[in-house]
Amino acid sequence: MLTNILTASPCYPSYRSFDEFIDVEKLRSLDSYLTRHIRKHICDDRDDFFVNEHVLESDAPYRPGVREIWLKRTLPGTPYNYLDIDRTELWQLTPEAAEFTLLMEFIETLPFESTGRILLIYDEGGNSVPAHRDHERPDICHDFIWFRTNLRKPFYVLDPETGRKLYIEGYSAWFDTVNQYHGSDAVDGLTFSVRVDGHFSPEFRSRIPYAAQNAASTPAIWVGTAEAIN
Ligand SMILES: [Fe+2]
Repeated sequence: MLTNILTASPCYPSYRSFDEFIDVEKLRSLDSYLTRHIRKHICDDRDDFFVNEHVLESDAPYRPGVREIWLKRTLPGTPYNYLDIDRTELWQLTPEAAEFTLLMEFIETLPFESTGRILLIYDEGGNSVPAHRDHERPDICHDFIWFRTNLRKPFYVLDPETGRKLYIEGYSAWFDTVNQYHGSDAVDGLTFSVRVDGHFSPEFRSRIPYAAQNAASTPAIWVGTAEAIN
């Protein structure tokens, strides 16, 4: 087992499904609830726009039209730094979190010891999220879970070396956001997903072969480890 971990190479494109670690039935049961509450936000037309910084294609739009509902934000006066998403002491619930109490209760069941940024991303305008990386620091690995209550959002990870795309098939994932790209295709109708950042619990972290070098590749190494064992 240890040998496999030490010799495993990162797989790209790849994602580690978390469906076996979370209550997928509970998650799916939230679909109509989330849809209903997101539709209220669409009517209000006041949510922030997603911005796309580290794009694969230089002409990709910086603000593709996709919207965000922030369920946690940093404390007032905290200067913006993307790399703070897992500095959990900086983040507090927003008023919007009170609109999504069932979602917040579900998040409590996830294998985190603490949470930082919590973001709900949605689109009803047929917009794509062009392929991008989240940051450019391979020495940093963010613990996070991406999840959704239905399978409508065509969300992919992409290996820049080969151009190969891999679409996420299930309800949840953790993936390397630095050494590969990710994005979502445009589709008709409402699509949404949630991302929770923070620190996995010690029990959960003990399952994961955290990489000493190129820490951002840890989810991709975990996939490689599983393939080496099988
Ligand atoms: Fe991203």
